[in-house]
Amino acid sequence: MEKLVISGGDPLHGTVYVSGSKNAALPIIAATLLTAEPCVIRGVPDLSDIKFMCDILRWLSVEVKHHKRDGVIEVQAAHPLSVAPYELVRKMRASVCLLGPLLGRLHNCKVSLPGGCVIGDRPIDQHLKGLKRLGAEVKVQNGYVHARCDELVGTDIFMGGRFGSTVLGTANLMMAAVLAQGTTRIESAACEPEIEDLAIFLNHMGAKIRGAGSHIMEIEGVEALQGAEHTVIPDRIEAGTFMAAAAISGGDVEVKGARAEHLHAVWDKLEEAGVTVERNNGSMRVRSNGDLKAVDVITMPYPGFPTDMQAQMSAIMTVTPGISVITEKVFPGRFMHVSEMGRLGADVALEGSSAIVKGVDGLSGAPVMASDLRASAALVLAGLVADGETEVNRIYHVDRGYEEIDKKLRQLGARIERVSE
Ligand code: EPZ
Repeated sequence: MEKLVISGGDPLHGTVYVSGSKNAALPIIAATLLTAEPCVIRGVPDLSDIKFMCDILRWLSVEVKHHKRDGVIEVQAAHPLSVAPYELVRKMRASVCLLGPLLGRLHNCKVSLPGGCVIGDRPIDQHLKGLKRLGAEVKVQNGYVHARCDELVGTDIFMGGRFGSTVLGTANLMMAAVLAQGTTRIESAACEPEIEDLAIFLNHMGAKIRGAGSHIMEIEGVEALQGAEHTVIPDRIEAGTFMAAAAISGGDVEVKGARAEHLHAVWDKLEEAGVTVERNNGSMRVRSNGDLKAVDVITMPYPGFPTDMQAQMSAIMTVTPGISVITEKVFPGRFMHVSEMGRLGADVALEGSSAIVKGVDGLSGAPVMASDLRASAALVLAGLVADGETEVNRIYHVDRGYEEIDKKLRQLGARIERVSE
């Protein structure tokens, strides 16, 4: 196992290039199951989660060629199998988005329930409700979702759960409805850029989707879908993480390749904290003189402040004078990073689904344990400013969602090494 060893204190400087989006690529790769024709996906980041998705497709007898260095995946699902086993699904929750395309294409499938997650309770009741509304018989048995139908029939479906819209729930429904009879109208659909990107890919395949990116989406079912080529959008959360790295280190960083329009809530919040964010065509220059002010944050579904940036924002606030209240409205229990930041000397108290962060003069380096993807990114950010050395263990969590994060940070002047534990 590997760990990251970071010597803190260096303001970051220079340019970093953002990779393709993990959360756009995963459902798009799953959507290739909807046609027997070849598909080519470009701009795919080299991450362990992408590898997991490719492994599952291969298990389903799908031909997958992954050209990692070029970020290209070629897929042909001539005759996919219909069972996604627990052994593979448990490695990555996002594989739940195989349900929609397998049911849409085969009208009969069995997909393992994803199981527990450290960021909190993550039911799929809205996914199942949506598929049932399309006319599928759905039952959960022996840890598997069994779904079958003679045909799927379009209808009106409200997809609002306890915490608002659901991203992968919307994706699953889109991928089931594209081959259904008639028109499906999704209300309270997720508006995330990753959902819009999935709709663009499906429409390239011949689907008829309107309104993606808004809360009302209409999907007119078609007989069949063709093969297509697509380049995934840049990763807005990776971009946001590097913007936070510039802010916390008092640096000056140009984040290239990101779409500023996908990051409104993030740069708005950073500006409120006193960070300068210049948005130019295709890049954002983020500058901070280290003189920041405490701000409150409430996470929301898009276009609200992303929950996947909450931990990174918390890290910035641990070394910002004053008190900030960080409230998690999407995953109320998503505070695994707090106790580990406490080991670095942060002063954070948890109150229900809020973290009360009292800024301290400085953090001091220590060994810490990564627990999940975004919590580990926040620990890396804290390590960039902590006095002395910080060791972030279990960095396989980081590698799930950040392509070569240590190399990119080194290019910005950070003293960070990847070493075997
Ligand atoms: C996606 O997960 C992302 N994952 C997550 O990113 C992200 O945190 C999340 O959306 C929210 O933005 C991928 O795209 C692969 P949800 P998803 O369904 O779709 C509740 C990362 O760090 N809910 O939108 O699984 C749920 O419990 C990952 O890259 C129900 O109650 O999230 C949560 O509280 C982590 N019933 C809220 O809705 C349902 O049927 C939002 O979850 C579905 C969800």
